[in-house]
Amino acid sequence: MDYAATGEQALARIAQASELDALEQLRVEFMGKQGSVSGLLKTLGAMSADERLSVGPQIHALRESVSAALAARKAALEDAELSEQLARERVDLTLPAPGAPRGSIHPVSQVMDELAEIFADLGFAVATGPEIEDDWHNFTALNIPESHPARAMHDTFYFPGSDAAQGGTTGPNSGRMLLRTHTSPVQIRSMLAHGAPLRIIAPGRVYRSDSDATHTPMFHQVEGLVIDRGIHLGHLKWTLETFLKAFFEREDIVLRLRPSYFPFTEPSVEVDIGFELVGGADGKERRVLGGNGDAPGHGWMELLGSGMVNRKVIEAGGLDPDEWQGFAFGVGVDRLAMLKYGMDDLRAFFDGDVRWLQHYGFSPFDVPTLSAGVGAQSSRGAA
Ligand code: PHE
Repeated sequence: MDYAATGEQALARIAQASELDALEQLRVEFMGKQGSVSGLLKTLGAMSADERLSVGPQIHALRESVSAALAARKAALEDAELSEQLARERVDLTLPAPGAPRGSIHPVSQVMDELAEIFADLGFAVATGPEIEDDWHNFTALNIPESHPARAMHDTFYFPGSDAAQGGTTGPNSGRMLLRTHTSPVQIRSMLAHGAPLRIIAPGRVYRSDSDATHTPMFHQVEGLVIDRGIHLGHLKWTLETFLKAFFEREDIVLRLRPSYFPFTEPSVEVDIGFELVGGADGKERRVLGGNGDAPGHGWMELLGSGMVNRKVIEAGGLDPDEWQGFAFGVGVDRLAMLKYGMDDLRAFFDGDVRWLQHYGFSPFDVPTLSAGVGAQSSRGAA
C-alpha cells in the first residue's frame, strides 16, 4: 500500500474543504472510529514484527499529517468566518444615528464643563444641591431673614400649599418650599456636609419669576466658595482673575471691584470686566472683552457678585467664624456662555430649536481640557 499517496489525497481533500461542516465530515471519514486512517492503524496488530517496523512509522506519519492538516484547516476556516462576521456586523459608533438629527452639546453644558475643568485645576470640587429648596437654606441661613427686602428682590416661586400662613423659618431645614433663587444655598449645604477647609464650585439651575430678552424664569448660576484660615479679598481677586483669564482665554482680562451689598457677604464686591469697543465690518460696534475699562474706547461691564462670607453664614454652616473665613461668588453661566460664544438672546437658550442647537452646540468629542484649551469650536465651526 502506498501510504504517501493516500496521505496526499487526504491532504488535498482537506485543503479543498471550504466549510466547517464539510471538514468535520472529512475528520470522521479519516480519523473517526470507523475512519480509514484509524483502520490502517488497526492493521498494525496483525503484522509481523519486521513488517511493523517498516510500515508502522509510515502509518503514524500519515496519521500525524492528516490530523495536523485537519487542525490547520479548521483554524483557517474559523478565522475566515470570524473576519467575515466582523466585517458584516461592523458598527461605526461615530456615525450619526440613522434618520435622527445630529445631537450637540448645549452651550450651557459646555460652559459648565469648562468651569469644572478650570476650577478643578485650582483644587475646587464640584458640589450640588436640590433645585427644590427650603426657605431656611435659600434665605434664612444666608442672612436673609423673613422681613428682609432682599426676599422681594428674588421674585421667588413658592410651592402651593406651603404658604406664609404655614409659618416662616423656625430653624434649620424649615420653612416654605420653593425653587431656589440662587446657587448660594449650596454654600450652606457644603459647609454642613464637609466642614472646613472647603473649596467648591456649585453649578446648576436657579429660578426667578422674571422674563424678558435677558431674563428667563429658569437660568443657570455657578457658585464659588472657599473656606479656610486667613482668607482675604486678595484671594478672591486672584481666583476670579485666574478663572476669567482661563475661561476667556485672554491674558489681558482686567477686573474692577466695586463695593456692593449682599446679605450673605461682608464686605460685598460687584466685579466688572473691562472691554473694548471694536467697530465691525457692518459698521456696528462690538464689545470685545479685555483691557482696562477706563482706557479710551473701553468700558466696564458688570459680571458677577462676590464678597467675603458673612460671619452669620459661616455660623449657619456650623463653623466658628473666628477660626474660619472665606470668600464666595456667584455668576450667571448663561451670561458667561453668551459673552464667550456670541449669542445675544437668552431666551433662545431654552427654546430647543434644533437649528440654534446645531449652530451654537458643541461636538460631544470636544471635551474641554486645560492641556488642549478649554475653549471649543462650536459644531458650526468644526463642521
Ligand atoms: N447669590 C447672588 C445672586 O444670585 C450672587 C452671589 C453669590 C453674591 C455669592 C455674592 C456671593 O445674585
